[in-house]
Amino acid sequence: MDSKKIILTGDRPTGPLHIGHYVGSLKNRVALQHTYQQYVMIADVQALTDNAENPDKVRNNIEQVALDYLAVGIDPTLTTIFIQSCIPEIAELTIFYLNLVTVARLQRNPTVKDEIQQKGFGASIPAGFLCYPVSQAADITAFQANLVPVGQDQVPVIEQTIEIVRTFNRLYGNTLIEPQALVPQDAGRLPGIDGKAKMGKSLGNAIYLSDDADTVTKKIMSMYTDPGHIRVQDPGRIEGNMVFTYLDVFDPDKQKVAELKAHYQRGGLGDITVKRYLNDIMQVVLQPIRDRRAQYASSKGDVLALLKKGTHEARQKASLTMDAVRRAMKISYF
Ligand code: TRP
Repeated sequence: MDSKKIILTGDRPTGPLHIGHYVGSLKNRVALQHTYQQYVMIADVQALTDNAENPDKVRNNIEQVALDYLAVGIDPTLTTIFIQSCIPEIAELTIFYLNLVTVARLQRNPTVKDEIQQKGFGASIPAGFLCYPVSQAADITAFQANLVPVGQDQVPVIEQTIEIVRTFNRLYGNTLIEPQALVPQDAGRLPGIDGKAKMGKSLGNAIYLSDDADTVTKKIMSMYTDPGHIRVQDPGRIEGNMVFTYLDVFDPDKQKVAELKAHYQRGGLGDITVKRYLNDIMQVVLQPIRDRRAQYASSKGDVLALLKKGTHEARQKASLTMDAVRRAMKISYF
């Protein structure tokens, strides 16, 4: 029998995934799939909570995100990849969990609060968006997940899931598994190539996993460095210099990075030279990802077929939870 612990995680399909996603979560998932039973969800329902008027955007990113997963090495024979909206049990659970939280508690959720700010909803917050942590509690508990790997910014959402689970179990008897957030230790956010805090689509500062080699090179050559470093012989700053920030993250040769930093700081190392070096490092990271993508992308039907299979598997698991929830809540009639 399968006694592996269960992991559930996912992404909103609102754009292609970038190297910030890679270091923040995707790489981790590739490692975790060998030890745990992993579910990875393409969260189209959640994406629609703030994209109700953009169904094409969400639709067009389903295969894209799935290909990003496959390209980084998430293996569909080890990980169940599925589409959220095809699991009606998640929607059903959400309806019941909504009775277990207050509107005030949802409004206090720091993650939701921040996102409401960022998205500029003002007084017009879609109710579905305000309630997405409840829907996310349904995502997690439908699969009886023990662990939920997320970035630091999503921790309050998992805390709210834990509260819902405790309330449910207290009211209806022990039914749901209490999950735990799994936040990677070195989970610093990778800044954008412009040095802005967060890599993102709207800022136009991301390197995508689907970018071809030339595009990556162009982006790296345009990276934010030290604006005061004019002549090669001048001393340069490495703090806030994206080339060194990225080398710290991606270059396995720490000794070499230390040497380059020292050289740059004392002067005599030009931006172009060090950017070319970083470019070589990045191409080594990204080329196998591009190769795997090309293999999967050569037959688009295969990606949809894989999603269909994963979704079928996921649904079987969720329906077992739904049965248990119905029995616990006394709404199992026939
Ligand atoms: N809210 C997550 C994000 O924005 C995506 C997500 C949806 C998720 N459902 C989930 C993450 C369940 C973990 C578990 O990144």
